[in-house]
Amino acid sequence: MDAAVHRFEEAQGRKPVNRDARDKPEMTPAGGQNLSRARGERLIPVAEGYERWAPGYDDAPNPLLACEERYLSPLLVSLHYKRILDLACGTGRWLDRLLKQGSSGVGVDCSPAMLRLAKKKEVIAGRLALAACEYLPFSAAVFDLAICSFALGHISGLASMVRELARVTKPGADVFVSDLHPDAFARGWRVGFRDGTSAYQIETLPRTVDETIRTFYSGGFECLTSEPLCLRDPERPIFARAGKSDSFEDACRSPAVLVCHFKRRGRSIDSGRGDEFENA
Ligand SMILES: C[S@@+](CC[C@H](N)C(=O)[O-])C[C@H]1O[C@@H](n2cnc3c(N)ncnc32)[C@H](O)[C@@H]1O
Repeated sequence: MDAAVHRFEEAQGRKPVNRDARDKPEMTPAGGQNLSRARGERLIPVAEGYERWAPGYDDAPNPLLACEERYLSPLLVSLHYKRILDLACGTGRWLDRLLKQGSSGVGVDCSPAMLRLAKKKEVIAGRLALAACEYLPFSAAVFDLAICSFALGHISGLASMVRELARVTKPGADVFVSDLHPDAFARGWRVGFRDGTSAYQIETLPRTVDETIRTFYSGGFECLTSEPLCLRDPERPIFARAGKSDSFEDACRSPAVLVCHFKRRGRSIDSGRGDEFENA
């Protein structure tokens, strides 16, 4: 998007939005160190990144999200969940959809700017908490399903997040995790966006598939499937719209997205923490 990515957007309050530029995900796979500098991108911390990106996050089509949705939507529709948790829910892409399908649930995110956008969605307003995934403001064993979509690479304390997830989910709960595939990261794809004429890359920690699965396993989760997803024809129009049709075939050659399905083992863990649900 710049190789990769999620979406490229102008930040609020800056230059007037150039709709054409905003709608173009950048897709220029490349390798090597100091990628951001080589590409003329500013590497920024996660908090600043989503503060800047939030205003336009929902507007631009994104092939990675489209690819993930194509795989996950039918799976999630076929499962009837009582209570769901959307970890790092951002603007509520999954939470909105799942609550509209009849589940109940909440979303947490550490970005006030992303949550402000989520709050504008009627179905999920009031179902949002400003919190870090590593410290969840919920009682033990309340959720039947959790989803963490395109955020794992931003979470330095993955073991802490998994511990919290084990605490707040019920035994047998399903957990779906998606992110940029490590192979795509190795090819130089990054999480970033454009703000007018400036380009930004958000700090991301690369992890191998094994590392992720091992961390979840140690925290009490069995890995049922780990699916490497490649971009396919349904994503072609997004590339075409971005004027990147030439790079589409190459982008399809190796996995772009990783989706893992975990199942919570064992008994519930009650740390005694109360339900300090704080609305965003
Ligand atoms: C690419 S967005 C994904 C948003 C949403 N899950 C989706 O798929 O559209 C990544 C989100 O992770 C959030 N995030 C990153 N680190 C976090 C952490 N430690 N705790 C909670 N949220 C976090 C960011 O604020 C941002 O909203």
